[in-house]
Amino acid sequence: MTTHKPQPARHRLAWICIGTLAALTVVSVVVGFAVLPSAQSDYKAGGLWDSICRAAGVPSSWGPGASATAPVVASNVILLPAMARTASSDSVGRGATLAHSCTMCHGARGMSRSDVPNLAGQYPEVVAKQLHDYQTGKRSNAVMATLAQGLSEQNIADLAAYYASLPKARLAATSYDEVLPALVRVGDPMRNIAPCISCHGGVDQKLGAPWLEGMPKDYLVQQLVQFKSGARRNDGELQMRNVAHAMTAAEIDAVASFYARKGLPARE
Ligand code: HEC
Ligand code: HEC
Repeated sequence: MTTHKPQPARHRLAWICIGTLAALTVVSVVVGFAVLPSAQSDYKAGGLWDSICRAAGVPSSWGPGASATAPVVASNVILLPAMARTASSDSVGRGATLAHSCTMCHGARGMSRSDVPNLAGQYPEVVAKQLHDYQTGKRSNAVMATLAQGLSEQNIADLAAYYASLPKARLAATSYDEVLPALVRVGDPMRNIAPCISCHGGVDQKLGAPWLEGMPKDYLVQQLVQFKSGARRNDGELQMRNVAHAMTAAEIDAVASFYARKGLPARE
């Protein structure tokens, strides 16, 4: 024989369950569509539809106004493989003429005698990108910003072609073995530092990564310190800031010495 609870008690339990469910539903609708959205600082009571969209995470504005909050881009330059192609001799010739106003600082044949970067043999897309970044203020330097203002697109292409055509610094052969600083060769995976040679030549040459070998040491140190502090931030996708931010002063000194030293044997 089975024992049943009396029927009225079961019914009461069912009604309590349904009642609780209904109450919970009402509370969650109010919290989700009214209380939470209104807690957002930019909430404007805009009707039920607006509230539902907000609760679902749909942006309230798709129009041009939305770009006001878009992240600041590192550079306006879109690097394309075509920018790295060898230019016509006309372009190189025009660039050579324009470069008269650059020799004072960058040297007669693009090899600087001071702490100004060498341009001789620099990849054309690097020279073009940097000049554009000075023009738009994405990379800040008073002298270069002023000079870049006066350059047309054609001028920039011609200057890039001219400097790319000049011979690079004379280099001692590199073995890419253990004598190189570890950061140059293998980076440091624990600190998320990729090896320099995976972008700057040696193992791979990333489009837009400058030729560093033989650059003045002080210039290299200065640029790494600026990437580290964020004072220089025209590197796309934080490529250099990610590398530099975990580097110590001693490591910056060591990698800068390595890249600068390679240009020196001719003068030693
Ligand atoms: C008065 C000195 C001066 C003159 C003249 C000058 N530059 Fe520069 N240039 C500099 C300095 C200093 C820097 C490094 C600035 C920095 O730290 O951002 C530089 C940087 C550059 C860079 C970036 C190089 C790199 O490796 O990132 C390019 C490209 C460049 N100059 C091109 C030119 C061209 C082209 C001209 C002539 C139209 C020119 N410069 C004239 C001083 C000069
Ligand atoms: C993921 C690729 C990548 C790695 C790894 C990398 N770099 Fe760079 N580096 C770049 C790019 C790209 C630029 C050019 C940024 C720009 O557009 O201004 C750059 C720029 C630089 C510059 C400025 C040069 C100039 O003339 O303006 C220095 C100095 C430099 N890197 C040093 C290093 C050193 C040292 C290491 C290793 C510790 C390293 N980089 C690792 C991609 C890389």
